[in-house]
Amino acid sequence: MILDPGSTPGRALHQFLISVVVPRPIAFVSTAGSAGHFNVAPFSYFNLISTRPPLLGIAIGLRAGAPKDTLRNIRESGDFVINVVDESLAARMVQTSGEWPAEVDEFELSGLTALASELVRAPRVQESPIQLECRLHREVDFGEATLVVGELVRAHARDELITDGTVDPIQLRPLARLGGDAYATLGRVLHLARPRVTPADGRAGA
Ligand SMILES: Cc1cc2nc3c(=O)[nH]c(=O)nc-3n(C[C@H](O)[C@H](O)[C@H](O)COP(=O)(O)O)c2cc1C
Repeated sequence: MILDPGSTPGRALHQFLISVVVPRPIAFVSTAGSAGHFNVAPFSYFNLISTRPPLLGIAIGLRAGAPKDTLRNIRESGDFVINVVDESLAARMVQTSGEWPAEVDEFELSGLTALASELVRAPRVQESPIQLECRLHREVDFGEATLVVGELVRAHARDELITDGTVDPIQLRPLARLGGDAYATLGRVLHLARPRVTPADGRAGA
């Protein structure tokens, strides 16, 4: 198959691309609106951008030509929380992704608990095993999508998940998004040491 993005309708292009870039981690993003209500929704156009400063990025598309509630809230408060989605949160996470009106509190809707953050206005999802408090670092406008870059200001992780300062993926049981309405759980975990290249190796190859 050969695909020309320019002549492919938007929906088909979206379906193709989200089935190619897999598996994608899911940022369950909680925010606070200026009227005091809370919002939470999943975003899988999500990744780590930099370690220092610790930056994370999510891309938020338009809905009917207008910003989604999550983006509006991030602009208003200047912050958000990325909550990690584990297998136990799958059904509730999907429920919050409905196109609910702005005044609907998706915490109440899905039976999730909003927990106060330490440094930001946005609440955390208590049921999430890892919660990352972020301040808006910058926004990059791509027309039909906005890349939101957040700087991590506080991380909360369940103690039992941590071994030597890192998160044990087997204990975490992260959920990932595939194409269509498919999701993946963690399969086999491989450990592969990176080659240690010395200056002598460089000369040998030259
Ligand atoms: C697993 C999953 C991942 C999603 N990823 C994105 C994404 O990366 N960007 C986006 O704009 N919408 C994404 N969506 C759709 C939003 O979650 C959906 O539009 C939601 O209603 C937005 O909520 P809000 O209006 O409260 O911000 C995703 C939905 C699901 C179920």
